[in-house]
Amino acid sequence: MPGSGRAQVSVFPSGPELGASLAALVWQEAGRGTGPGGRFSLALSGGSLVTLLSRELLRAPEPCRDWLWAYCDERRVPPEDPESTHGQYLAQLLSKISIPEKQVLSIDHTLPVEEAAADYSKKLKEAFPGQDIPVFDLLILGLGPDGHTASLFPDHPLLQETQKIVAAISDSPKPPPERITMTLPVLNAARTVVFVAIGEGKASIIKRILETEEENPLPAARVRPGHGKLLWFLDEAAAKELTGPVEQHSVL
Ligand code: 6PG
Repeated sequence: MPGSGRAQVSVFPSGPELGASLAALVWQEAGRGTGPGGRFSLALSGGSLVTLLSRELLRAPEPCRDWLWAYCDERRVPPEDPESTHGQYLAQLLSKISIPEKQVLSIDHTLPVEEAAADYSKKLKEAFPGQDIPVFDLLILGLGPDGHTASLFPDHPLLQETQKIVAAISDSPKPPPERITMTLPVLNAARTVVFVAIGEGKASIIKRILETEEENPLPAARVRPGHGKLLWFLDEAAAKELTGPVEQHSVL
């Protein structure tokens, strides 16, 4: 169930300042891992987040041997395909920090997309024993200009999915068409969810999501963690149409 928790919006002068604070948030949350033995579980989106997060986490890498690394969504392509989110994180970050390989959950792209989703769902259930819905410590989500997040797109039937924790999509409006995605129950179960959006191309959709109540809310507007924190990290360009209260971050 989406929570009523209000979003905490932080606005940064530009991408580098936002990135530095995002990395600080990751390290901070990593120190509060709630899994077995203090395991820290996080799941990431793709797109522009990959380079931003990789660059910033590598500025001052800290131990991450007790991390569980997963994906909020993934394209069904081989890791060597430039469209592969896992492949991009492997090249830019995972090959440079010490998360044990068995703690990095990537998809089996060789399976048909429905089976790949079921297989990923199984991997998540194994990683979160006893939890019908995996509760991640931290999810980092991007935002599409149409209001999609992960691979949940406007007016798509997947928005109504409440049983599966991972679902397949074969008609993604954002290429490539075949993807797997966490569903809203998982996104809304997390302890902390942070949306990252940069650039004025996102300004109008962010205004719609954060400052209008709609009959048919956009996918990103449906991410309201039931018991968790909801954070939005924006640069000034992405936040320029907002009129409500925000937390302005000056240059560090
Ligand atoms: C993906 C992402 C997707 C992305 C948004 C924003 O794999 O495509 O998970 O949800 O986060 O489309 O992408 P940009 O940050 O590149 O605009």
